[in-house]
Amino acid sequence: MRMRLKLKTVFVLYFTVSLLGLIYALMQLDQQISQLRGELQKLQEHIKTSELAKKTDVPRIYVITPTYARLVQKAELTRLSHTFLHVPHLHWIVVEDAPQPTLLVTDFLAASGLTYTHLHQLTPKDRKLQEGDPSWLKPRGAEQRNEGLRWLREMGAAAEGKEAAALEEAVVYFADDDNTYSLQLFEEMRYTYRVSVWPVGLVGGMKFERPVVEDGKVVRFHTGWRPNRPFPMDMAGFAVSLRFILTTPQARFDGDAQMGFLESSFLQHLVTMDDLEPKADLCTKVLVWHTRTEKPKMKREDALQKQGLGSDPDVEV
Ligand code: UGA
Ligand code: MN
Repeated sequence: MRMRLKLKTVFVLYFTVSLLGLIYALMQLDQQISQLRGELQKLQEHIKTSELAKKTDVPRIYVITPTYARLVQKAELTRLSHTFLHVPHLHWIVVEDAPQPTLLVTDFLAASGLTYTHLHQLTPKDRKLQEGDPSWLKPRGAEQRNEGLRWLREMGAAAEGKEAAALEEAVVYFADDDNTYSLQLFEEMRYTYRVSVWPVGLVGGMKFERPVVEDGKVVRFHTGWRPNRPFPMDMAGFAVSLRFILTTPQARFDGDAQMGFLESSFLQHLVTMDDLEPKADLCTKVLVWHTRTEKPKMKREDALQKQGLGSDPDVEV
């Protein structure tokens, strides 16, 4: 009897230990499986993006960026170029607001790793903001965007065969040097028939401005200021097909446009509200932000300079 009891205890003990072992092993396995699942997902995403990067049959995106010399210029261009490096088939048209190309931008672009065209167009003095003017007094970047359009039209007129066919599919976007752009934005605009539109975050004294879409059509605009402007949208909120730009030579920016009418001055030549193609999930997603960089304070620099101890002017900032 005692012997049988002992055997039973040993058996129960053995059984329990084995069961616990098995449960432990299963738990470990489960953990490993979910770890592997995570890794697999990451790998799949990686393959997807690197395949997209290799793709050359997607429509080209021409990005026109006006830029001008100031302390933060190189920092802005660096940030922008790092975004663009992730966008397949992007051609950057950088237009300096300068009488001739500067060394800083020339060297910067040469080292950027991007496909680019470097242009320059000085804003005439009477159209340029002066030190101390409020930033809204005169339109900024108008002459530079027009210079970018001129280059595109000249190139378009000269293109033949395969290249001309590629231009037919391309899209043009005006990207200021200080905004923040998500990568998804470029995939949204890549297929634009005429003019595509989407929301812009942190603009016009609002969390966002956007075209309001009903039954797939833009019917009005969500904006805090003068909603009756023909196109109450920020420059960052639309893209235009290159084909359309090439066939509408009168479409350009009016450097004398009233405050808030610069975008309208260009778009009026191209479309009506009814023609706009809403992107970013029918204009429900914010994929670009109208960020503005604070002007760096140079109080200490100025003080040190007076003593001949300023930062080495030969170091590019
Ligand atoms: C807003 C819009 O986002 C701009 O697209 C529009 O041009 C501007 O208003 C306007 O109404 O003119 P905001 O942030 O106030 O933009 O303008 P900035 O970012 O200071 O300038 C727009 C672009 O023009 C930038 O890429 C900037 O580098 C360039 N710029 C600015 C010049 O080329 N020259 C200048 O003297 C000033
Ligand atoms: Mn800006």
